[in-house]
Amino acid sequence: MSLLEVKNIDVRYGDFLALHDISLNVEEGSIVSLIGANGAGKSTIMNTICGLNKPVKGEILFDGKNISGLKPSRISKYGLSMAPEGSHCFERMTVKDNLLMGAYLAKGSERMERLKSVYKLFPVLEEKQNQMSTYLSGGQRQMLAIGRGIMTQPRILLCDEISLGLAPVVINDIYEKLKEISAQGITLLIVEQDVNRSLKNSDYAYVILEGRVVMEGKSKELNVEDVNDAYFGMNKYAH
Ligand SMILES: Nc1ncnc2c1ncn2[C@@H]1O[C@H](COP(=O)(O)OP(=O)(O)OP(=O)(O)O)[C@@H](O)[C@H]1O
Ligand SMILES: [Mg+2]
Repeated sequence: MSLLEVKNIDVRYGDFLALHDISLNVEEGSIVSLIGANGAGKSTIMNTICGLNKPVKGEILFDGKNISGLKPSRISKYGLSMAPEGSHCFERMTVKDNLLMGAYLAKGSERMERLKSVYKLFPVLEEKQNQMSTYLSGGQRQMLAIGRGIMTQPRILLCDEISLGLAPVVINDIYEKLKEISAQGITLLIVEQDVNRSLKNSDYAYVILEGRVVMEGKSKELNVEDVNDAYFGMNKYAH
């Protein structure tokens, strides 16, 4: 069953049409990856799904309900959470408070339960719980962003550029954690710039080029060379 359906959306920044007729389908329980070069429109797609941008055309259905144009806070209450690009967190707050902020609507005991489960997934966040977030390493910040995302107990977690600037060993670790999160029943929509890594770690992938979907398919059935051509806008993918 489809949990998230993006149907033919256009998004503009002033005169610039950043997304052209984008359609995506995310099955419940799956891991879906968006691949594309810098400036392709990946973050714009993610931000539009979570309500930070408004589409000028098309609609976004979450569990069958039209969420396009709703405020981010409302969308988040439906069970959609985002770990943003650049792993933004509240720098002057401790790791623990950053995580607790993610579940500010939950009851005290429930928040503590969720905190425990995030610590189980990312033990390093428990070790650093009383430190200011500003002192975390890049990988730890990324873990904090994901941890804060799952504190809301979302049905779907959107992760933008989770591997940006991280060492391969840390990236592998983060993908392992995402698999654990997926095994807990949380659907994942992930932005990834590395084609091989994207195909290896997802069930379904979309290649975005200049604001359009130029290729899609089951990750294990997509051909890496074709995906690379699409990624760089070669041959028939150019427009
Ligand atoms: N707030 C904005 N105002 C104007 N143009 C914007 C804005 N945000 C993004 N853009 C433009 O929209 C296009 C898509 O940007 P977006 O950030 O979605 O790309 P991306 O695929 O996430 O790239 P990256 O891999 O570098 O993060 C780019 O041409 C960018 O310059
Ligand atoms: Mg981006």
